[in-house]
Amino acid sequence: MEGDDLESTKHIGAFLDSRCVGVLSLFETTSPYLIEKHQYQLRGMAVNPNYRGQSIGKKLVLFSETELKTLNIELLWCNARASAVGFYKKLNFEINSDEFQIPNIGPHYSMFKKLA
Ligand SMILES: CC(C)(COP(=O)(O)OP(=O)(O)OC[C@H]1O[C@@H](n2cnc3c(N)ncnc32)[C@H](O)[C@@H]1OP(=O)(O)O)[C@@H](O)C(=O)NCCC(=O)NCCS
Repeated sequence: MEGDDLESTKHIGAFLDSRCVGVLSLFETTSPYLIEKHQYQLRGMAVNPNYRGQSIGKKLVLFSETELKTLNIELLWCNARASAVGFYKKLNFEINSDEFQIPNIGPHYSMFKKLA
């Protein structure tokens, strides 16, 4: 994705033995819907289908939150696929947009979680 190689971008993986079973990336990007100064965007959230439902996604997000707090980041946001909204709600993210379409992917909502 654009910005993958920026120094501020973080790519986080979950590993079982040496096998990567889940990933997410964190980009220093400001949401068009939110005013906080220090924001990061969560992108590329995915867990290998064979390992879903084992709290791997949850651990990836909670680990990310801890890392971002050490950088004094106030807020984490994402464009959540409609099918993943329940996952983010379980992690206390809130919806802050109407439904919108991302071409070739489908319906999404903007969601955020305050870290401070
Ligand atoms: C969404 C995804 C990352 C979740 O990863 P996961 O490791 O299976 O999720 P976890 O096991 O950590 O789930 C944490 C909690 O969220 C719930 N949950 C997980 N996926 C959910 C979903 N799609 N809808 C509603 N709740 C969900 C789990 O039941 C669990 O609840 P609990 O704490 O009460 O037991 C994974 O299903 C995935 O990779 N999906 C395809 C890609 C995708 O949609 N990515 C998000 C793009 S925005």
